Amino acid sequence: MSENKVPVITIDGPSGVGKGTLAQYLTCKTKFNLLDSGAIYRALAYGAVKHGLALDDVASLVNLAESLPVTFIATSILYEGEDVTSKVRTEEIAGVASTVAVIPEVRAALMNRQKNFASLPGLVADGRDMGTVVFPDADLKLYLTASATIRAERRVKQLKNQGVSANIGQITRDIEERDARDLNRKTAPLKPAEDAIIIDTSGLDITEVCRQVESLLWDRGLLK
Ligand code: DC
Repeated sequence: MSENKVPVITIDGPSGVGKGTLAQYLTCKTKFNLLDSGAIYRALAYGAVKHGLALDDVASLVNLAESLPVTFIATSILYEGEDVTSKVRTEEIAGVASTVAVIPEVRAALMNRQKNFASLPGLVADGRDMGTVVFPDADLKLYLTASATIRAERRVKQLKNQGVSANIGQITRDIEERDARDLNRKTAPLKPAEDAIIIDTSGLDITEVCRQVESLLWDRGLLK
């Protein structure tokens, strides 16, 4: 690796598969920067709802995407200075994010903002197309999978811990609907890069996933 090359680790996969936890673990270990690209799509969705934009109004969505007033401070997401960290985590916003993410012009408008996260000492990038489209030259590409049922169970548990009651059937349907949109869209569909390492997290504890990936990082010289 040349001295000024920014090392990049990509983590792709559907929602609820453990990408966020793994990404945070790896940024802790490596001290790399973190790109939660889903949070950018969610911030766009939040803005679209807030400003009452129609989800097929491509020009307005692109306009918003180009000057999206989102900033990340530690683990908080700010929209026009307002802390929207929990507001963008709702099922409603997830659905809107996955709907606007289908539009190729919207994806193009968000491209540079994502690429700009790559700076020394390195980047851990979490999303759907990190290894395939945004960082095709990444040093290590990971793709996490798990069945929709298991991901829905994890989401219900997470909501319960936040004191929110949830219907497992509805959550499973929401996840399957979003998966279908993310997998079948024409631009940057959710799929593993050809050189990605695929990890099925269905039967694994997330700490076991983190441990496995950490040892990969040592093998690839990304941890010293
Ligand atoms: O990772 P997440 O659940 O926060 O992402 C929310 C939605 O954003 C997801 O359903 C699809 C979209 N997304 C995307 O299209 N490309 C990415 N790199 C990240 C997220």
